Amino acid sequence: MSQTETETQTSTRLETSTPFTSAALDSDAEFWKSYIASRPTPSEDFFHIINEYHAKHSDGRMEVAHDVGTGPGNIAARLAPYYSHVVGSDVNERALAAAPKLLSPNIAERMTFIQSPAEALVTAGIPENVKQTDLLTVSECMPLLDAPKALEAFHTLIRPAGTLAIYFYGRPIFPDPECDAIYDRMATRICQFGLPFKGTPGEPFWRRGAEGLLSFLDNIALPESQWKNVERHKWNCDYPLLFSGPEGFDFVVEPVDRRAEGEITHDLVDREFWVHEWDADDVAAYLESVFPHYQQQAGDRYPEIEEMCKELRAAMGGKQKVSFPVVLILGTKQ
Ligand SMILES: C[S@@+](CC[C@H](N)C(=O)[O-])C[C@H]1O[C@@H](n2cnc3c(N)ncnc32)[C@H](O)[C@@H]1O
Repeated sequence: MSQTETETQTSTRLETSTPFTSAALDSDAEFWKSYIASRPTPSEDFFHIINEYHAKHSDGRMEVAHDVGTGPGNIAARLAPYYSHVVGSDVNERALAAAPKLLSPNIAERMTFIQSPAEALVTAGIPENVKQTDLLTVSECMPLLDAPKALEAFHTLIRPAGTLAIYFYGRPIFPDPECDAIYDRMATRICQFGLPFKGTPGEPFWRRGAEGLLSFLDNIALPESQWKNVERHKWNCDYPLLFSGPEGFDFVVEPVDRRAEGEITHDLVDREFWVHEWDADDVAAYLESVFPHYQQQAGDRYPEIEEMCKELRAAMGGKQKVSFPVVLILGTKQ
């Protein structure tokens, strides 16, 4: 086999095997439109928590927000009512190209999109007038990143006493444990369609992601020499952040806790938090957006998922209130 063939096979393998690191790189505006439609939207209160933290610990300046791993800019747009200008950056050029098509023009005109990995943002050519960042958000992306490198970059971009807000939500939580069990089986089977992970180029990404979710992001260290007032808010973390059961993976990861002394952790069970009215089709669409292109990987095993979806439809009996485990980490730049 020639080197080029090996490289092509390796990159194809990585593309289909690591969602949102490379599997979505070829996805167009239609993909991102359904991505936005299928995801839970944070409540406005959630952004108020971030704003109140920022008001309390900084001088309250709200000129530039930067949303890292912005994808199609869906969360960057949520920051626009509060900030004069919003930068959205992402490694994925096509997601950024889709953003202006999916956002309202009066919001898009106050935004700047930058193609760059989070880890390299300092040298990404962000225009000088929007480089100094008051608030930097990382929504549904941190477990995909090389955390120490990305945090170095965030620390450089955020101005002194500016705010870092990292958050991640996981699997849906149903009122009925039977629905939870069916969802678990579905998500775990879908995850298994991507196997093997072990020994493939995608393994480090899967391991990094799984460790982050299993640890409820406590594996993300905010060094005391660089960050202060660190708060970790955990809603509904009596449920895992992982989208599937551990049997979805062909490796074992252990939770890691790198929280510094003096950090505050708030743990709250609140099933009204980010509550959405979802039926089985909404759940199926969510799984499709979490595991992009899984139907292709499933091949003739796809009817197994259709069968489980039927079971879920019967158990849910229509729309039900679903909530989510969510972790939000807040910190102030020293
Ligand atoms: C699940 S999407 C989140 C999109 C949006 N922030 C949201 O909350 O819905 C994850 C995003 O992270 C981006 N991403 C993955 N690795 C990245 C990296 N190293 N640097 C910057 N963005 C990255 C992907 O391209 C994708 O757009």
